[in-house]
Amino acid sequence: MEVKPDVKAFFDPQTNTISYVVKDPASDACAVVDSVMDIDYAAGRITYEHADEIIDYIQQNNLRLEWLIETHVHADHLSAAPYIQGKLGGKIGIGDQITVVQETFGKVFNEGTEFQRDGSQFDRLFKDGDTYQIGGMTAFAIHTPGHTPACMVHVIGDAAFVGDTLFMPDGGSARADFPGGDAGQLYDSIQKVLALPDDMRLFMCHDYGPGGREILWETTVATEKAENIHVGKGTSREDFIKFREERDATLAVPKLILPSLQVNMRAGDVPKTEDGKPMLKVPVNVI
Ligand SMILES: [Fe+2]
Repeated sequence: MEVKPDVKAFFDPQTNTISYVVKDPASDACAVVDSVMDIDYAAGRITYEHADEIIDYIQQNNLRLEWLIETHVHADHLSAAPYIQGKLGGKIGIGDQITVVQETFGKVFNEGTEFQRDGSQFDRLFKDGDTYQIGGMTAFAIHTPGHTPACMVHVIGDAAFVGDTLFMPDGGSARADFPGGDAGQLYDSIQKVLALPDDMRLFMCHDYGPGGREILWETTVATEKAENIHVGKGTSREDFIKFREERDATLAVPKLILPSLQVNMRAGDVPKTEDGKPMLKVPVNVI
C-alpha cells in the first residue's frame, strides 16, 4: 500500500472497456492492463487506433513497458497486447487457468492440434499469489474465478485492477454465465477483493454509465463494501447467486464474443489458415 503508482486510463467507447498504463513512481517502468484492438466485425477489419494512443502515451512520457497484463480472456473486446509488445516490448501475462479456457473454446471453435492448450502463447502464467516486478514495485495476482475460470485481480501498490469481478458501485458485478463461469465462485472472488484494505483504489475493466451517468472507472474497497448494488452491505452468498443467475438469463450475448475469444485465447493473435491468412470462424448454434 505504500507505493502509489501513477494510473492513466484509456476508455474505449465501442466496448466500454477501460485500459490502463500503470507507472512506477520511482522509475520509468510501466505496465499496460487490458489493452483493446479495434475491430469492425461486419467488415472483418482490424485497426489499432486505441492501441496507438497507449503507445504514443508511453513513448511521449519516455516510459519502459515491462508487462502487458490481461485480467482474463475477454469476451467483449480483442486484446492488442501482441501489437503493443511488437512496438514496445514487455511480457504478456495472464492467469494459469487460461488452459481451462483454451480447452473449452478449443472445442467450441473446432481447433486442431496446432492450437496449443497449454498457455504457451503467453510469456507468463500467473498462479494465485504470484508476484512480479514493475520497476521497483512488487505486484501480485489474486485468482478470482467466477466470471471466467482464469480471471485474476492484479494488486499494484495501493491500486487493484479488478478485471470483471466488480463494476462501479452502481453497476454491481460482472456476469457469471459464460462457459466455466459460476455465480458462487464470483461471490467468493468478490469477497477477496472486498477484504483488501479499505482505502485501496479499485480500477474497473468496464463501465456502462448506468442511468446515463458519465463513465467512471475508479472507486475504493470501502465504497464498494458500502454501496455496491449487488454485493454491498453484506449481501449473502445465497442471495447473490439467485440474483446473478436470474439476471444473467436475461443478458444478450456480447456482440464481439466470437472474434474476441478466438483472438484472446491466443494471447491477442488473430488465428491463421494453413497458408498463413488471418481468418475468424463463426461456429453455428454452439454459443
Ligand atoms: Fe470479461
